[in-house]
Amino acid sequence: MLAGKRFIIGITGSIAAYKAAVLVRLLVKHGAEVKVVMTPLAKEFIKPLTLATLSRNPVLIDFFNPENGTWNSHVDLGIWADAMIVAPATANTIAKMANGIADNLLLTLYLSARCPIFIAPAMDLDMYQHITVQQNLKKLESYNNIIIEPASGELASGLEGKGRMEEPEIIVEHLLKHFTENQKFKEKKVIITAGPTYEHIDPVRYIGNYSSGKMGFALAEKLASEGAKVCLISGPVKLSTKHVNIERVNVTSALEMYDEVSRRFSAVDIAIMAAAVADYRPEIQHEQKIKHSEENISIQLIPNKDIALEMGKIKRKEQIMIGFALESENNPELAKAKLIKKNFDFIVFNTIAEEGAGFNTDTNKITIIDSNNKTSPFPLKSKQEVATDIVNYIYNITLARK
Ligand code: CTP
Repeated sequence: MLAGKRFIIGITGSIAAYKAAVLVRLLVKHGAEVKVVMTPLAKEFIKPLTLATLSRNPVLIDFFNPENGTWNSHVDLGIWADAMIVAPATANTIAKMANGIADNLLLTLYLSARCPIFIAPAMDLDMYQHITVQQNLKKLESYNNIIIEPASGELASGLEGKGRMEEPEIIVEHLLKHFTENQKFKEKKVIITAGPTYEHIDPVRYIGNYSSGKMGFALAEKLASEGAKVCLISGPVKLSTKHVNIERVNVTSALEMYDEVSRRFSAVDIAIMAAAVADYRPEIQHEQKIKHSEENISIQLIPNKDIALEMGKIKRKEQIMIGFALESENNPELAKAKLIKKNFDFIVFNTIAEEGAGFNTDTNKITIIDSNNKTSPFPLKSKQEVATDIVNYIYNITLARK
């Protein structure tokens, strides 16, 4: 459930900071990706090296790296995370969070984060009971933050009472519960085509294209993290997948991709055609290398099956099918024609004419055009964020059909 999820653990200056190390270890064991952000005081309680080792990521404390001046972008991190967990949260940090104060990286991250925020307070019992702390926590709760109440027991001061940061195992249970309840695509079956196809000319040559597969893979990860069972049918790419909800099927040619898609299509709820499928293949696929000669040669190409077109013909009305149109011209009409021809529910239009969009980039700038002719342009974003926009669009269709 937590595999592939991205967590920020925010550690503040409390004796309970040592428990954050266990929390990081547990999340990594669950297959989650963890990045640790500490307040400057927190490092007096636990060494960043311990947390960097356990999280397998550098620990962030300052706004920028004092050695090389690299900016630690709280905005990027805030978008990256699926959840932020402030554990332990001191009375001081709680007060600042409740009042929008942003005098360290952890606090700026809190203000920029778009994900759910969990807060696990840790302090002495009298501090915890103090009206100001209680009011700050109520305020944070009313802003949709999730407070993981402290447990009762012996405190660092020697006193007994409520204020001990909740045990890391219990915090993980809160996260599991949250993500189980909030999975938008639980039990949905999805196929995604991704990457290029290679069409064999001879044993050492092929016709291919520059597709990296990044968009299809980002969609697979996003849907899998929302509970979908994803079959990712991918042409040759340099990417890996690790989510337990993703079954990866590697293919080389358009014909192989067609076979894998067509035998699964009737059983799926959602099909996303993100692959850059070769429209043609060499008529003759040579078994031996074509030898050099001084003569011109020509390779006769014959059409491949159009996977999306064929699936569009048999698509049932409760199934959702999404297409992509990467065009060399900035003309959405080209995408609209494909939407209608291939019976997509919506098409994702992008163009290599826009900087940062298209093949082999980490970013994309898309316009979604749906079957009601509604056109929704999106700004330039990372492919992960674009995947989130597309997945949200699919989710809204499922809601409208209920
Ligand atoms: N597609 C497919 N099988 C093919 C070709 C395309 O499934 N043989 C899918 C793509 O995955 C994409 C959509 O159809 O979702 C549009 O692909 P594109 O290559 O832009 O469409 P074509 O119809 O091949 O048009 P063009 O002439 O622009 O290449």
